[in-house]
Amino acid sequence: MSGKSAAFFEAVVNRRTYYGLTNKSTLTNDQLKTLVQTAVKHAPTSFNGQQSRAVLVTGSHHIKLWETVLENYLKTLGGDKAQEETWTTRINSNFKSGYGTVVFLEDEDVINGFAAKMPPLAQKLPIWSQNSAGILQYIVWTALELEGHGASLQHQTQMSPDIQSAVTNLLEVPPTWTVSGLMPFGIPAGPPGYGGPKVFQPVEDRTKFLFD
Ligand SMILES: Cc1cc2nc3c(=O)[nH]c(=O)nc-3n(C[C@H](O)[C@H](O)[C@H](O)COP(=O)(O)O)c2cc1C
Repeated sequence: MSGKSAAFFEAVVNRRTYYGLTNKSTLTNDQLKTLVQTAVKHAPTSFNGQQSRAVLVTGSHHIKLWETVLENYLKTLGGDKAQEETWTTRINSNFKSGYGTVVFLEDEDVINGFAAKMPPLAQKLPIWSQNSAGILQYIVWTALELEGHGASLQHQTQMSPDIQSAVTNLLEVPPTWTVSGLMPFGIPAGPPGYGGPKVFQPVEDRTKFLFD
């Protein structure tokens, strides 16, 4: 690695999951909008299909989003009161407490269009779509943190189709836009993760090099 990528890797190393969030941002809503639009525009997608979508909500829209997620998530817990309490606290103090949320979605219409044109790849296109979603999420996550926010990546919408449709209805986006992740963010209230140091497996066991 040469010094040319030092700033990029500093951001890569410093990006973490933050659960404790305040309802404050270092950026104006217009600056956040530019951040999200730049990421959506430039994140690569398979066949340049550009099926990734993002909805940024702040203020009352952010609050309503997490109220909707909580209300529908509780229905998936089978009446387990302890779990209901745990998730109510988690959603309210880790996600709803933030300044805003970036909702990431993939437009299934675009993916199905490519699948119809390329039947041998039909099973792979949804996988590549999720890969593209991950790249976009990572760009936004890292950029938000470079700007002084904490953020996390959440998947409560994956628990049931009802949560998915409750969220897409709330956001007034087409039902073919499927939520791939929710990224609540805000100025962090504390350290990343659960407070302890992040544990790494030896990178030597996870990489291999064949050089001349
Ligand atoms: C694809 C993916 C899915 C994740 N899903 C969740 C999630 O649903 N809820 C959550 O709290 N964290 C989620 N995380 C965060 C991981 O737990 C976290 O990135 C990991 O523990 C490493 O910690 P770090 O982000 O601080 O480096 C997800 C991360 C990735 C990359």
